[in-house]
Amino acid sequence: MMSNVGYDKQQPETIQQMFGSIASRYDRANAILSFNLHRYWNKQLAKHATNNSPGTDYLDLCSGTGDIAFCIAEEVSSPSKICLLDFCPEMLEIAKTKAPKSPHEFTYLQGDAQELPFDDNSFDSITISYGIRNIKSPERCIKECKRVLRDRGVLSVLELTRPTHPIMKFGHQCYLKGILPIIGKFVTENQQAYEYLCSSIHHFVSPDELSKIMKSTGFDSVSIKPLTGGIATLVTALNNEFFTVT
Ligand SMILES: C[S@@+](CC[C@H](N)C(=O)[O-])C[C@H]1O[C@@H](n2cnc3c(N)ncnc32)[C@H](O)[C@@H]1O
Repeated sequence: MMSNVGYDKQQPETIQQMFGSIASRYDRANAILSFNLHRYWNKQLAKHATNNSPGTDYLDLCSGTGDIAFCIAEEVSSPSKICLLDFCPEMLEIAKTKAPKSPHEFTYLQGDAQELPFDDNSFDSITISYGIRNIKSPERCIKECKRVLRDRGVLSVLELTRPTHPIMKFGHQCYLKGILPIIGKFVTENQQAYEYLCSSIHHFVSPDELSKIMKSTGFDSVSIKPLTGGIATLVTALNNEFFTVT
């Protein structure tokens, strides 16, 4: 679907370029635009990804400026390997400057989340936050996650979503259509980027559809957890080698 502002996930280079252009302002914009709620959502994601992980190899896809990877680092006590992958080099460069001192080993990779440069069965836990919405083929990405996850490995996807409760829904629409593009313009100095963000929330697959993709890819124990009335949603799944798709 072509976005009306020129950023189009069917043309990934436009998305890459957009994130490159807002990278230095991304963290500040996130904090202001989410009223810092993203910190709570990110923590929930990191807790799920670490509490349920059978091992110590973590992969954060669409890692951006590294918030999820560094949240994971706070949650795990045993020395772990945490790989950050993103196709936007500017976002990764900022992540490198934010890395905390910790016993963990961080690796930064520029790459496409739909074509992962890893062997099969390489990771115990994979996270994707606010990223899958921007990916041309979420199905390809989820299939790649399944391939590189070990048996009993967990996939945890956090996304901005649309609340279903009528009052929440109305407030959310007002925020997305009226407030976010205006504040977004000032904090990112790129109004088009935040218009894209709004339209991508409207057009992205729902948590139900995302969970169906996970199930059809062969993931087991798929669960959906709405956060803050469904403004964000955590969708999680288990890679159970003995699970068969019916
Ligand atoms: C909204 S940001 C989210 C960043 C980070 N996960 C966070 O929680 O703040 C989306 C990120 O996804 C990356 N991205 C989008 N499509 C991608 C793809 N196909 N492969 C790798 N990274 C991608 C963008 O470069 C951007 O850094």
